Amino acid sequence: MSDWTLDYTDFDNAEEGLREALCTLGNGYFATRGAAEEAKADEIHYPGTYLAGGYNRLETEIAGREIENEDLVNMPNWLCLSFRHEGEDEWFDLAAVEILGYHQALDLRNGVLQRKMRFRDRQGRETSLVCQRLVHMQNPHLAAIQWQLTAENWSGRITVCSALDGRVINSGVARYRELASTHLRPLGSEAIDDDSIRLRVETSQSNLRVAQAARTQVFEAGCLLPDQRRLEQQRGYIAHELSFDVSQGRDIHIEKVVALQTSRDRAISEPGLAAMYTLAEAGRFADLLASHAQVWRHLWHRCDLILKGGGRTQMILRLHIFHLLQTVSPHVVDLDVGVPARGLHGEAYRGHIFWDELFIFPFLNLRIPEITRALLRYRYRRLGEARRLAREAGYRGAMYPWQSGSNGREESQMLHLNPKSGRWVADNSHLQRHVNAAVAYNVWRYYEVTEDIEFLSYYGAELLVEIARFWASSAQWNAQRKRYDICRIMGPDEFHDQYPWADEPGVDNNAYTNVMVSWGLRRACEALEHIGTERRRELCETLSVSEQEISTWDSISRRLSIPFHDGVISQFEGYERLDEFDWKGYQEKYGDIHRLDRLLEAEGDTVNRYKASKQADVLMLFYLFSAQELGDLFHQLGYPFDPELISQSIHYYRQRTSHGSTLSRIVESWVLARLDRPRSLQLLNEALESDIADVQGGTTREGIHLGAMAGSVDLVQRGETGLVLRDGLLRLDPCLPEPLPGLQLRLRYHGRWVEITLEGHRMTLCVPEGGTKTLRLAVRDRAYSFEAGQRLEFQWQSDSGWQLVDPGETSSSPR
Ligand code: BGC
Repeated sequence: MSDWTLDYTDFDNAEEGLREALCTLGNGYFATRGAAEEAKADEIHYPGTYLAGGYNRLETEIAGREIENEDLVNMPNWLCLSFRHEGEDEWFDLAAVEILGYHQALDLRNGVLQRKMRFRDRQGRETSLVCQRLVHMQNPHLAAIQWQLTAENWSGRITVCSALDGRVINSGVARYRELASTHLRPLGSEAIDDDSIRLRVETSQSNLRVAQAARTQVFEAGCLLPDQRRLEQQRGYIAHELSFDVSQGRDIHIEKVVALQTSRDRAISEPGLAAMYTLAEAGRFADLLASHAQVWRHLWHRCDLILKGGGRTQMILRLHIFHLLQTVSPHVVDLDVGVPARGLHGEAYRGHIFWDELFIFPFLNLRIPEITRALLRYRYRRLGEARRLAREAGYRGAMYPWQSGSNGREESQMLHLNPKSGRWVADNSHLQRHVNAAVAYNVWRYYEVTEDIEFLSYYGAELLVEIARFWASSAQWNAQRKRYDICRIMGPDEFHDQYPWADEPGVDNNAYTNVMVSWGLRRACEALEHIGTERRRELCETLSVSEQEISTWDSISRRLSIPFHDGVISQFEGYERLDEFDWKGYQEKYGDIHRLDRLLEAEGDTVNRYKASKQADVLMLFYLFSAQELGDLFHQLGYPFDPELISQSIHYYRQRTSHGSTLSRIVESWVLARLDRPRSLQLLNEALESDIADVQGGTTREGIHLGAMAGSVDLVQRGETGLVLRDGLLRLDPCLPEPLPGLQLRLRYHGRWVEITLEGHRMTLCVPEGGTKTLRLAVRDRAYSFEAGQRLEFQWQSDSGWQLVDPGETSSSPR
């Protein structure tokens, strides 16, 4: 195993769905699951292609109610490639031959999926097949397949079928199968020329027109092999069937180059024409591979994180970075898309966008902030809808939906199917208003890392102000305790959507939400300071924000209620009244108790009754803020803050969390980093294994967990370098005295790159040549200024911490 390759050395029907998700190839514009080219959607395979932002809505009657769902649409399958021997009916099917050798490899460095197979069919013919595939990272409208077929002990005539199939539906997630799923309407198909075909479809409600064009050619010894072609057409389907002679021992190359364009593309006349032009300009597979691999080289140069002797961990980290960059590549800068929680890798959560960006931004902010800026612009463009949502719910400002899709309306389902009981139950998850806090947090962290004042002035400040306004209108003054309450909401822990003794959904004063609100209100005030008097005046006039309103935000930020019990922060008010849960008993009874909510509902009980959390909730505070920042926040809120509160709260909730979300381990691993290193590392390892080992037993096949993927890489980067952003400075403080295993990474901060190398007791920081701006960074509490081309070495001294090896003239006093 190389640390650049995800390898599978056998073929396993049961694992195919998982491998398809993990071997997805994409370029930020679209992605296609790693299903075999010859496979059709069935219980084993699911060849899905998803377009960033390619949504459609359909209505279904469920449990007597008409419900509407918005899905990320499974687009026409462009992979379809198969062959059969002349005079035979059966197309190539790996399940119907004797497999003599099988090796599947996802090459992370070059972004290529390869399958190498040798097999013997019923007639005793032995064939070897090497399939390679890419989804082009340079031209996001292109993809290509190359099959190298070698007849080992036979010669004869074969027919290759190369198709574009628009008859697909969304059926990748079993529990959604009762919902309407036919999103595509065929518009037409035709042969463009002797080698190429084209298919056009349209989504039924969003009227997104999609065109695919495919050129299929056969080569022997580098020369085009003459073939006999037949066009096969059905509604929503078109194929070229090519027949040609194969001689024993001679390698045949079958190439399929595909162009994909949509009516949302810019600089086009019409998608069908555009697909045809794009295809005409595209070179052969080898040319496309070269330009594709070059772009990946550049991406890795910026984004790799090299662990010395990292082995499997190194490979998994790269796998996670790879999938992150395939979902939100630099191409999204020109698109209007958010980051779907499950990538463009499957249909779970219907491609919706949640708060998971909170876990994804830290990695991207510090490398390709152009992407995070684009993702924030997705939110900004939906401010109008968020304002409408707030207004309809009786609030002011902007209230972002828990689940977002095309236009930013609330896409959370009102009912969900509990597969354990077969019942459709009410889904109150839309009460997770904390998604607004995540949007605000991401705006501010983006600004801190980039100093992009133009973004803050024209987009960020407006987002912060409108979210602040929403919070201010949802906070109610509680005269008795002289504090503001935020009631009838849900925290990140989705197990608690209602008090067991109440009739209405929601809980009160979720500590995480309230602290985030306090922080967010302050940031809104601060943003208005940062953007300068003139812009502040303009913005306040446009949004009718008065000085009095701003001072109300300030007062609310100082008087929000935070509940406590038994020396810990309460997850929400009244949490202490819940029953303890019998963790051991249920573990013995069910084994896997990640999704206690489903198990208990199936038993006629409800998880709302218990002190049991699906995922980190209070602990999120210690994940997002340093102890010092949190101390300041509590101080500002007028609550005493003893550092013991952190360790006690961590200890308390650790024992009451099922980790039913992959995000949860990331948080717990981080909060334990300095308290319980072995357990923290164990959780990090579990987080790294989340998708590759499908730790939730079957969820990864429905789409990767992008928050956990990006979050685990961020954990390593943060954990090893001790990286924090505080007081306007990026601070590094690798945790010693244990020698560091060796790590190399590049970060971009305030527009400058810095290369960080850690090994043993040494740390080197190097700012590459180019650029004129001085970069300021801190090592622990001491700030240093770097000029372009400068390199500083630090050595860990057990008595005095990190010391500059040759201070020279570069050191400056701490800020
Ligand atoms: C988690 C949410 C998360 C969503 C999408 C859910 O299971 O509880 O926190 O946003 O998955 O990843």
